[in-house]
Amino acid sequence: MKKNLSPGRVLFSALAITVLTLTACSEPKPEIEQRIDEILSQMTVEEKIGQMNQLSYGDVAASSMADDIRAGRVGSLLNIVDPAALNELQRIAVEESRLGIPLVVGRDVIHGFRTIFPIPIGQAATFNPEIVERGAAVAAREARASGVHWTFAPMLDISRDQRWGRLAEGLGEDPVLGAVLGAAMVRGYQGSDMSAPTSIAACVKHFVAYGAAEGGRDYNSTNVPPYLMRNVYLVPFKAAIDAGAATLMTSFNDNDGIPGTGNKALVRDMLRDEWSWDGMVVSDWASVTEMIVHGFAADEREAAMKAANAGVDMEMVSGSYLEHLPSLIAEGLVPQKYIDGSVRNILRLKFRLGLFDNPYTDTSAPSTDYAPEHLAAAKEAALQSAVLLKNDGVLPLAESTRTIAVVGPMADAPHDQLGTWIFDGQKDRTVTPLAALRESLAGRATVLHARGVEYSRDRSTSGIAQAVSVARRADVTIAFVGEESILSGEAHSLADPGLQGAQKELIDQLARTGRPLVLVVMAGRPLTIGDEVKAASAVLYSFHPGTMGGPALADLLLGVASPSGRLPMTFAREAGQIPLYYNHNNTGRPYQGNETMIDDIPLEAAQTSLGNTSYYLDAGAEPLFPFGYGLTYSTFEYSELSLSGDTVPVGGTLDITATLTNTGSREATEVVQLYTRDVAGSLARPVKELKDFRRVKLAPGASTRVTFTLTTDQLAFYGLDGTRRAEPGEFRVWIGPDSSTGLESSFALR
Ligand code: NOJ
Repeated sequence: MKKNLSPGRVLFSALAITVLTLTACSEPKPEIEQRIDEILSQMTVEEKIGQMNQLSYGDVAASSMADDIRAGRVGSLLNIVDPAALNELQRIAVEESRLGIPLVVGRDVIHGFRTIFPIPIGQAATFNPEIVERGAAVAAREARASGVHWTFAPMLDISRDQRWGRLAEGLGEDPVLGAVLGAAMVRGYQGSDMSAPTSIAACVKHFVAYGAAEGGRDYNSTNVPPYLMRNVYLVPFKAAIDAGAATLMTSFNDNDGIPGTGNKALVRDMLRDEWSWDGMVVSDWASVTEMIVHGFAADEREAAMKAANAGVDMEMVSGSYLEHLPSLIAEGLVPQKYIDGSVRNILRLKFRLGLFDNPYTDTSAPSTDYAPEHLAAAKEAALQSAVLLKNDGVLPLAESTRTIAVVGPMADAPHDQLGTWIFDGQKDRTVTPLAALRESLAGRATVLHARGVEYSRDRSTSGIAQAVSVARRADVTIAFVGEESILSGEAHSLADPGLQGAQKELIDQLARTGRPLVLVVMAGRPLTIGDEVKAASAVLYSFHPGTMGGPALADLLLGVASPSGRLPMTFAREAGQIPLYYNHNNTGRPYQGNETMIDDIPLEAAQTSLGNTSYYLDAGAEPLFPFGYGLTYSTFEYSELSLSGDTVPVGGTLDITATLTNTGSREATEVVQLYTRDVAGSLARPVKELKDFRRVKLAPGASTRVTFTLTTDQLAFYGLDGTRRAEPGEFRVWIGPDSSTGLESSFALR
């Protein structure tokens, strides 16, 4: 193993460096800045404001859109994916507008353009930045060929709430995992040169704390205090910006009463003044004028003023900049220098994308949509994203298996296995598990099929008998259950994130046959599936795996490959436990695990505080599965934890090493995880924090020493005074397979 190259280490080195210096991405290129100066000096106020205006293609009549572009009233379009139509609008911008400034075109390319990769939460389960980077690069290549210059991804909203539908689009609950993978996505989309015909600009979103929506209800208010903001919610954004993210989107939510789109302290003061970032800020869809609905602005004029002053460079679709900025500037309510700064940021993006030199999309280039290497990458991502939650030995299916029953609403659901936010992927290119298993098993075993339940919400139990009869004729049943894609994603939160419709009944009836039952769950979120896990012999959780989900799952079920995904989010037992996340604070009365449960309480019990700990009488405080958890077809043993010292000086590093042995009989990959706990700080610190991780593949019987080099910077956090520092004192450290267990030691920072 190479030392010092694991993802967390690289991330923290980057964080450390950027405290002192400007990031590479923020270093202005003098020749670009000079060209921007020249253009700015020729622009009228109206033309400047026009650059700050983004329209949605199709929502405005074609003739008026062309007129607006010609008159310099449009800087950007979103949602146009017809290269010929785009080229014509671009021609109008370049040849018929006074200054010839090209349009920049945005699109939600969230987990693939045509070739669909697993939804981002599934990609996060790979714990593999290389896979994530490759997925984004494939998406960029396909999208740019269709005229898309700019994606509204990655979504870096940390979420600790399994009800929130948009967690499907994010990278989970952990800031370090989100930071490492978010930075990888940025690199994948943008490549080393954003002007290349295979690159697009990334947009980190939603700034900020959108994933902390109260009650998990989308768009809801958030109340994240400054220290949590800095130590958790901002961490992936900072890492992605350090990785060169070209743009950022402000969020819909109000945090502590201030909507993301009007938050000057975070957007202008932090991004620009503190982080020295020179990218471009776009609002979310109509989030400028929605500040009126929030009750943060009295009318469109005030909304435009607050957004522009906060530092939002471009307004998505709501048009208030165009209407009101001229008078706001004239009256001195929005400083001219802010407008010039915004236009500079927009033009810089267009230069970085090479649009001034090459504004058009090459419609004669051969299509790379669904190229074999793209499909192979999507399959590998789906393969690494599936998490084995339980296995009593039924998986992988024995070679001797002759008859397999494939049932459930997700076994052959080409649209739904693609997941949320699919605008350009085509369901007829999806390979479903049913199709893949039939192909893989052709001539070897018989595949019997019955849906049992038509679609995930289907409450009808009329098909269950047929599924049960098929199961009775088979050696093993694989039930593909979960959620249709539309049950997660934007505006699709659930109060009770369990299996919908008659799926529970289906599983119950299948389990009653007494035959081996494998559950494969395709969903947009961690579902509360405790009963179903109990009923099944094995459970493989694949989130929504995308175009190549079928072949990937077939390989895993048949043992061509071993599962290696790990949970990027805690699984709750019950909705009432939510929010539930591993890196919580300890409280003064932490749960011990031996508490009195509801049925243990005697009748007419006298008032008692029942052991005085923090838990639910009916659900305890333990998750169904912890963050980082995942099994494989082999077994791994951790031993011989050693530290390079008992103490580490502030500014120094510490090597933490453990032996990892594959004690099973198959080659497999373990995701080795490093956690620490700062025992006593100036703020109460989380019980555990992921610091680093590494995927390690080992042959059966093989052993290796895995070393993580922990820097002082990885131990640092923002205190109440807003400064980031590592505080001397005692730390506990674990190397292990997930957030709930591992070999433990301690050291002191002096
Ligand atoms: C609203 C969503 O919140 C955002 O993520 C998306 O990029 C925009 N709409 C544009 O579609």
